[in-house]
Amino acid sequence: MSTFPTPTPVGDRLPVSLPALAELKRLGTPIVMVTAYDFPSAQAAEAAGVDLVLVGDSGAMTVLGYPSTVPVSVDEMLMLAAAARRGLRTPLLIGDLPFGSYESSDELAVATAQRFIKEAGCDAVKLEGGGASVDRARAIVAAGIPVMGHVGLTPQTATALGGYKAQGRTAQRALQVARDAFALQEAGCFAIVFEAIPAPVAAEIMPRMEIPVIGIGAGPATDGQVLVFHDLLGIRAGVGARFVKRYADLLDEMVDGVRRYADEVRGGQYPSSDHTYSIDPAELGELKAQLG
Ligand code: KIV
Repeated sequence: MSTFPTPTPVGDRLPVSLPALAELKRLGTPIVMVTAYDFPSAQAAEAAGVDLVLVGDSGAMTVLGYPSTVPVSVDEMLMLAAAARRGLRTPLLIGDLPFGSYESSDELAVATAQRFIKEAGCDAVKLEGGGASVDRARAIVAAGIPVMGHVGLTPQTATALGGYKAQGRTAQRALQVARDAFALQEAGCFAIVFEAIPAPVAAEIMPRMEIPVIGIGAGPATDGQVLVFHDLLGIRAGVGARFVKRYADLLDEMVDGVRRYADEVRGGQYPSSDHTYSIDPAELGELKAQLG
């Protein structure tokens, strides 16, 4: 018996399938993707009616506190993905293959991808980059697992790219981004992320993309958009990348809530009688007698 919830309709929303995703592209309906890393963030994505949920390796930084995405392990990612799975019914769930878990061989890539499907209940996996990643994507697709590609700024190899900065800002570099995207499409990816590339570059590539393209810092020409949950809700401190738009400031609200709780505990206002349990006076008398 499966340990994962069966995708079930929620209201009039059906579980998002790969053909349904392709249909959104065909119709020109913008595709909404967000990251999630646990049960409540997945429940929020479900309730908001997004199409795709990515358990991104950005979780290494947003929820595990690592300085970059590089250190996160497959086991850590699987725990995050399984928790997100339990909060979802309709969006397609994509697990991000972490750095070092797929690059060196097709066998490793397929074995890691299979773990995301079997152990965490993901519907698909994502990997970063062109080059050897194209072969890895082809191998995973051949093993029956849907793959999402990711080009432009690829945080797992940000050091080699010169840091966390926009990519494809010269004709030659933009051509490389385009070639990687075409190769991943040809390898059988069902969709692809364009991260941090100039909007006009994305717009030039889009007419040659037959699969859905989800942008993050790639302008409005892509088929959809993705943002990191903690960025869009303001759950992390500091100024995010240029492309981040904040729709809430939850970190401030969280700090405020914990601070008011601390103040009330220290001031003796919490707990009040509203938050305590009572006992029958006779039972209390008996207890006192027993305790001497
Ligand atoms: O890890 C992540 O959150 C991602 C998205 C930014 C696409 O790869």
